[in-house]
Amino acid sequence: MWMRDDLERILFHETTILARLDELAEQITRDHLGKDLSVVVILHGGMVLMADLLRRVHMPLLIETLTASSYHGGTASKGVVDLREEGLPDVRGRHVLILDDILDTGLTLATVKKQLIESGGAEGVRTCVLLRKKKERPVRVGADYVGFEIGDEFVVGYGLDFAGRYRNLPFIGVLKEDVIRGELAEKGVE
Ligand code: XMP
Repeated sequence: MWMRDDLERILFHETTILARLDELAEQITRDHLGKDLSVVVILHGGMVLMADLLRRVHMPLLIETLTASSYHGGTASKGVVDLREEGLPDVRGRHVLILDDILDTGLTLATVKKQLIESGGAEGVRTCVLLRKKKERPVRVGADYVGFEIGDEFVVGYGLDFAGRYRNLPFIGVLKEDVIRGELAEKGVE
């Protein structure tokens, strides 16, 4: 298990994550029943959450995706969100639930939410993240549905990557420092 060996510790096992998703899905279903719901999934990080969470939401909905990130290969936000307007899904008049893996600086969610309201014409926008880092944020953005709160550390697994890898780990954990340092040095990333 080379990927498991790269981890310093596991934060959330698969069974813990899935049990929490049962609760979140029930809440989301209750809050949106009878509404025209479009779920907008932020790729790539949100894709594992999307598959497991939405199969637990028992109501009709549309699934849209968009690609956005404020990370560019390292372990810290670069403070700039890559998001192209022509990639925005058509959510005019619909209730939107944005799904992302993690709320870190909050820039990604704030940017996507603003675009979906101002350019996309969404009727209402709520947000859902599996993880929220406990920290001071440069922008005032919260999440309406949060799986777990974690400390301000870099995590991987369950959709979250480091240099594109570890997304397919079924649990969430913290990488060993030397694995991060080795990879960054090899890529020449600061
Ligand atoms: P912001 O800072 O915009 O970041 O809230 C959200 C995006 O940044 C990525 N991110 C992480 N990726 N481990 C990761 O693998 C982390 O600890 C982490 N923190 C932020 C992620 O793509 C998220 O959507």
